[in-house]
Amino acid sequence: MVKIAPSILSADFSILKEEIQDVEKGGADYIHVDAMDGHFVPNLTIGPLIVDAIRPTTKLPLDVHLMIQNPDPYIPDFAKAGADIISVHQEACPHLHRTIHLIKDQGVKAGVVINPGTSVDAIKPILSDVDLVLLMTVNPGFGGQSFISSVLPKMKEVAQLRELLDVHYEIEVDGGVNATTAKLCMEAGADVLVAGSAIFGQTDRQQAIQSIRSK
Ligand code: DX5
Ligand code: ZN
Repeated sequence: MVKIAPSILSADFSILKEEIQDVEKGGADYIHVDAMDGHFVPNLTIGPLIVDAIRPTTKLPLDVHLMIQNPDPYIPDFAKAGADIISVHQEACPHLHRTIHLIKDQGVKAGVVINPGTSVDAIKPILSDVDLVLLMTVNPGFGGQSFISSVLPKMKEVAQLRELLDVHYEIEVDGGVNATTAKLCMEAGADVLVAGSAIFGQTDRQQAIQSIRSK
């Protein structure tokens, strides 16, 4: 069954603990945490302090998506704060192999992310080293944007490469996922769907999660 990772970017931060517990009760599989640096993407959000604060509020894995240019200096802090998966952008890491292994050296799972405008070729050499491949279906920086459907063939491509290389990474998609676009992603081979506004924008989070999953 497809996993659902609600993005807390669209949660009410004044009651973040309740928001996280609400989606956990509603059937979420991961909690997706978006860390933005104001350089790689035009927005500033969450740092390790918040990850540390939310860690005791949930048993779910914390899936931390770093939108940080040259993230290496921050990776140990996010790991110590309680991240279970740390993903970095290929576009933001000049020494991607070093960065992926720095994440693994902290004892957490490592993911690689590509933007809609980046081809799968850019991450081919690292696919055997990662636990997760995250394909952005919006240009990162903000919640509530529209799904970019030209990314769908890349889901099929990374699914085929997984077979070919005989490796086991999860395929995650992020941006503009709702009940309609979720179906397209699942058909294309996605294993984990990130959704922010489509879950936290609804009052009944259980129903929102179910309607994304059931498609
Ligand atoms: C975008 C973030 C996403 C965002 C998704 O840069 O990486 O995780 O929160 O939000 P929705 O689901 O509203 O597009
Ligand atoms: Zn994200």
